[in-house]
Amino acid sequence: MPAPRFTLAQRLPADYLASSLGRDVTAGLSAATKILPPKWFYDARGSELFEQITRLPEYYPTRVEQRILTRVAPEIAAATRAATVFELGSGSSRKTRLLLDALTERGTLQCYAPLDVSPSALEQAGAALIHDYPALTVSATVADFEADLTLPPEAPGPRLITFLGSTIGNLDPAERPELYRMLRAALGPDDAFLLGADLVKDRDVLVRAYDDRQGVTAEFNKNVLYVINRELGADFDPDSFTHVALWNEEEERIEMHLRSQRAQTVKVRALDLSVDFAADELMRTEISSKFRRDGLTAELADCGLDVRQWRTDKAERFAVLLAVPSAAPEG
Ligand code: AVJ
Repeated sequence: MPAPRFTLAQRLPADYLASSLGRDVTAGLSAATKILPPKWFYDARGSELFEQITRLPEYYPTRVEQRILTRVAPEIAAATRAATVFELGSGSSRKTRLLLDALTERGTLQCYAPLDVSPSALEQAGAALIHDYPALTVSATVADFEADLTLPPEAPGPRLITFLGSTIGNLDPAERPELYRMLRAALGPDDAFLLGADLVKDRDVLVRAYDDRQGVTAEFNKNVLYVINRELGADFDPDSFTHVALWNEEEERIEMHLRSQRAQTVKVRALDLSVDFAADELMRTEISSKFRRDGLTAELADCGLDVRQWRTDKAERFAVLLAVPSAAPEG
């Protein structure tokens, strides 16, 4: 019998959802300034709402990145000659097809190794990909890339690690080097790293992208409350919170918050936690950092990653960059 072309390795602990979400909620809602990490938006409904966001007229990043990738995929394929594409936070894998096509054209591609916290997203994407790419092996991993970056051992080199969609913007300046160093450690001398990053631009364009007229982003933002209600037995009333998107000039990032419309107390049964909100209190649910070429190049270099190609659209709204391990690795 031939080896299966699609495999799914489960590397998340069985109680990951409840225990990890529980820790984040306990820490984030007991703090003086309330914070919830953005990774908890993405249950099935949240993933669907995000898909809708990517089609909104105001939300330019997905379209612009897709256009850049269409243009540069052949160049990336030629520069990397990758046999494996290892994708962090792969979701629906839609944009990755541009790379898979270019590497198939080149004749180097053997394996696609997506890593995501969502087994259902991986199964759907994997099934479609082995159908559409008859010579491809798909080795999927269910894991949280902030905790576990292990590559499937069978994945042949050279390897191209991709982190697209500007998800890097969700990490703060202290968390980003941790990820870069883990990546640097996973890269061999012939491997490369492809990063998609949203760039600093006009404030109104940015705010509109996170506060669309149809209110899809507002629903997406409130979805985290439904997730906590369901997974931890909380009694958030999502209608008593208002979506807020603001540009933090100092930190050069968009922040999403939920504003409590009134003073209220929320109970989280599974955590035995009771949380007071003042009227108009803000709870931060996401940061989406925007980058400049110099700053991003420097923070990657500090972690042993040399930017070799920097590609943007004409208006310089978004960047796709290719980095390789620097000759002398940083400690
Ligand atoms: C998936 C993290 C890149 O920050 O733009 C979209 C998520 N939040 N609208 C982003 C998001 C609100 C998105 N990332």
